[in-house]
Order: sequence, then structure tokens, then C-alpha cells
Amino acid sequence: MSKLFVANWKSNKTLEEVRQWMDDFKVELNDDQEIVIAPPYPFLSLVADKIKDLPGVSLAVQNLSSFPAGSYTGEVCVRNLEGLGVKYAIVGHSERRRYLKESHQDVANKVSQALNNGITPIVCIDQDYMEDQAQLIESDLLSQCVVAYEPLVAIGTGENAPVKEVAKVVKEIKEVFGEVPVLYGGSVSPDNVILYLEITDGVLVGGASLDVGVFAELIKSN
Ligand code: 13P
Repeated sequence: MSKLFVANWKSNKTLEEVRQWMDDFKVELNDDQEIVIAPPYPFLSLVADKIKDLPGVSLAVQNLSSFPAGSYTGEVCVRNLEGLGVKYAIVGHSERRRYLKESHQDVANKVSQALNNGITPIVCIDQDYMEDQAQLIESDLLSQCVVAYEPLVAIGTGENAPVKEVAKVVKEIKEVFGEVPVLYGGSVSPDNVILYLEITDGVLVGGASLDVGVFAELIKSN
């Protein structure tokens, strides 16, 4: 399987900044690399258009409604994404669990919404609730997830997790979810990315994906 490099821009960037980032994004990918860009919703269509002729580059949403289409004001559901070519949905990011009070059940419902509509969920977890989260996901869907291990203490802090510890959790995740691709996220940078690529299937990158030059450097360090 390809190594995934997921750029999670979170709630950053203006329309003009997104245009500039996309115009400046010129990296030659190896066959075994897949780049995934997760912009804020208003820029999905622009990014979709810019990447349509770029092999190896895919589109993700940063969140997904746990409901189907209907009267859920402010939510973005799978049906709203039809035709945009969204391949992945990040679900259960710790920032959403923390600030938006997303429950494990909400996240499990998002996994069902995604997989029942052809989108692969990237389920973010920390070690202490990994099993509780997995238990709520329908058992036949578990092994179709991509799982991202994002230890809270490593997110946005510059304190990337020790590689040995990540390797141990990757093993535990595979015991619980099955043979799923596992990503690491938390202060990944061009200087440390190589360490994580040796023991995972890719990286989920926040801060270091905002600057296109830094992100390109990170991809090239592979
Ligand atoms: P940072 O790379 O900024 O630590 O963010 C990690 C993250 O939360 C990606 O989803």
C-alpha cells in the first residue's frame, strides 16, 4: 500500500491562500506515495478542481455529518459531497471530541455514513479510548477504516511522540481493528517524518502542511 501524507489544514486559510498553496504545490511523487488534502469545506471544490489532473493526490473532508441528508442545519453529509471526488473523511479528531463534544457513538455513526457511501474514514484515536471507540463501530466496518494514532500531548506542541511508543500502539490498533492502515499524527515535520514512515502507513500532518514548501519538503524526506 502507498504511504499516505494527509494535510489537515484544520480551520486555517482564506480562499486566496488556498489558491496560492495549490498553485505552488509541485511535487514529484513516488509510486508508493499518496497525498491527501483536507481543506475546510468552502475550498473543497477549488481543491478538487486543482488536483483532478494530479495522479496520486486525493481529497478528504475534515469531518462528516453523522446523519444522512435531511433537516440538520449546518451539517455536511455524504450526499452533499457527491461529485466532488472526496475519497477520505477524517472523523473523530481530538479537537472535535474536545471542543465540539463529539462522542464515540457520533464517531461510529460517521464511520457508517462514510463507508456506506464509498468514502474511507480516517478514524482518529488516542490510546486510552481506542478500544471503547472500536467497540461502537459495526464489526464488519472496522477493518475498512484507516486509523490515525494522534496522542493528545503531541498535537501542535512540537513534542512528537517517541517512535517506540508509536510502534507499540500501532500493534495494539491492529489487534483491535484488524489489518488496517495506521497513520501517526502529532508534530510531524520534515525532520522527523522518516522515523514514522518506517513503522506506519503514513502521517497526518497539521501545522507542517500549512506552508506548501514545508509540506513538499516533508514528502521529499521519504
Ligand atoms: P500538528 O501536526 O500541528 O501537531 O497537528 C496534528 C494533527 O492534529 C493532524 O490532524
